[in-house]
Amino acid sequence: MATERDALRIFGTIPRAKLILTALYSVQILAAALPLATVVVLKSVIDSLSAKGAGIGDVLGELTWLLVLSLLSVAAEFGARLLGNLAATELTGRLQLQMYDRLVTMPLAFFTTTKTGALVSRLTNDASATQDLLVSVIPTTISSSVTIVGTVVILSTIDLRLIALGVVIPICLIFIRRAEARINAMATASFDALKDLSSDIDSTLSFEGVALARENGQVSRERGRFVAGARTIIRTTRILNGWAASTNAYYGTAFALMTTGAIAVCAFLKATGTFEIGTLVLVILYVQQLQRPVQSLIGTRYPRYRARAALDRCLDVIRSSIQPAKPTSESDLLVPSPVESLLPGPVLEFEGVSFRYPTVSSYAIPGLSHAGNAISIPGLPLTWLENAGPSPTDDQARPLALSDVSFSIAPGEFVAVVGRSGAGKSTLASLAVALDLPSGGDVRIGGRSTAALPDSTVAARVAHISQSTYVLHESIRANLLYASPAADEAEMLRALELAQLAELMANLPDGIDTVVGEKGHRLSGGEAQRLAIARAILKKPTLVVLDEPTAHLDAITESVIKTVLLTEFSQLAVLMIAHRLSTIMDADRIIVMESGRIIEQGTHRTLSGRPDGRYARLIEAQREAAG
Ligand SMILES: Nc1ncnc2c1ncn2[C@@H]1O[C@H](COP(=O)(O)OP(=O)(O)OP(=O)(O)O)[C@@H](O)[C@H]1O
Ligand SMILES: [Mg+2]
Repeated sequence: MATERDALRIFGTIPRAKLILTALYSVQILAAALPLATVVVLKSVIDSLSAKGAGIGDVLGELTWLLVLSLLSVAAEFGARLLGNLAATELTGRLQLQMYDRLVTMPLAFFTTTKTGALVSRLTNDASATQDLLVSVIPTTISSSVTIVGTVVILSTIDLRLIALGVVIPICLIFIRRAEARINAMATASFDALKDLSSDIDSTLSFEGVALARENGQVSRERGRFVAGARTIIRTTRILNGWAASTNAYYGTAFALMTTGAIAVCAFLKATGTFEIGTLVLVILYVQQLQRPVQSLIGTRYPRYRARAALDRCLDVIRSSIQPAKPTSESDLLVPSPVESLLPGPVLEFEGVSFRYPTVSSYAIPGLSHAGNAISIPGLPLTWLENAGPSPTDDQARPLALSDVSFSIAPGEFVAVVGRSGAGKSTLASLAVALDLPSGGDVRIGGRSTAALPDSTVAARVAHISQSTYVLHESIRANLLYASPAADEAEMLRALELAQLAELMANLPDGIDTVVGEKGHRLSGGEAQRLAIARAILKKPTLVVLDEPTAHLDAITESVIKTVLLTEFSQLAVLMIAHRLSTIMDADRIIVMESGRIIEQGTHRTLSGRPDGRYARLIEAQREAAG
């Protein structure tokens, strides 16, 4: 398990880390020591005022000291809060940045095994829960130890017998341990209940989930499940809080016994010798003052465990040994490098390419892959992530998704890829746009291996229109500029016009500035697809890869694609995957795939002329399906 040392190491990477921590822990020690001195001055005030005829003049010095000590205490507490806040936010920020940098380079397959909620929780809840290690656990341990040691030393100088009262603490601990065991059991039960509830909410309270429940008359059943889950949580939380309250009662009882015992010892001392009333007050105050540090010191066990577990989860991400999807240097991530000159010749070349999807365990992060949802319990800000690893079947070596695939596309050439579902067409597309790198052989864009091409070069040269277009929850303008930051208004309007989105634009409340996407105006599947085409037009790429752009979409989108292929994209290298063979009859070359291999290549005319050919059979099958 991660420790405070790991937290310190990560914190050490921020500027002036040592200075901040030294200052923080110094003021913490000062804040703990000052009240000890205050009690000594109080005793002196009482002793001075106990003398017959004593007046204000006799305690002026002490009063000044009391004021100075109190002001110093206030200043130390203030400083500790400010510095603690600084250290906490810096540590969280550092962890978040390191996790983000790691996650953003993960193989895309990783994101198919995780839920957004789990990622969000790791970047927010877990990153901030680790703060406790620096600003609560370490300082509490330091300051409580200072107070306890200081108090014990002072009490032992008054009378060694006072120390014997400390025996009450271990007795009290027996009860507290019992309560803690109950608290842990209840917390676990509560986690489980919350986990179930949150995954229910996740699957049922979404656009699709609510629609599904309504369409199938399951709303009241879903409500019943929600109520039952919520009740379980309320009940466990109530019991848990009850046990938490009882630990307070045990501490209270223990210190009441110690205080009474201390007064008894003082009464005994008074009877046997000289004992000033100030000393009695001093003893009572010290014994009382012990309660808080003892309680905090014992109480740090739970926050420490929680913060260490959270840090563990953050480190699982930061230190995961998963190979990045592509070798991306830091500078490449932050500043796009100028587009590198690409060599003349074919725009896209596959040479003896094979590809195997990695096993899940090779890119799984504990608790994130196949993760449940992140959860926090009211009053117990814990996050709970299901730690189920990948199931054993996920881990068997996968067959090759592509084997020995070779072809090339020259500028102005339109190449189509067809084949049955699962033949490897989308895999081929993801290698062509450098989202994945080949396991064997070489994929070259503009004569350069995709493995060596910076992301920025690929981004500038390649447009990818996939079947599921991701629309950012931003304006249409922002969605277009995301692909081509330098595009001007006229270019954007032209691209929208070519993609047949002009009419839609005219009907939207804010035109091109209308916010679209998940929480904005929802684009239909065909509209989103055409937005992707507009993005591709604006980009002025050298290579366009379209993955089944017409499979389930409308006639408008199909006609847009046909038009742009003949106009905007006619001088480019185009790779298009299609189910609907009618869209690719004009292709310069058609590649037929099966089980990851190219089994036929040629024009529509030559391929359809082979009666036993796979392409001819595909055409036959589609004709029959169309009736
Ligand atoms: N992320 C992944 N991890 C593991 N295997 C995968 C992954 N994606 C695809 N595969 C497997 O690779 C093979 C090829 O899949 P691919 O998506 O390339 O097929 P496709 O030809 O595009 O099919 P479709 O026409 O249905 O889109 C399939 O057997 C599929 O199960
Ligand atoms: Mg596919």
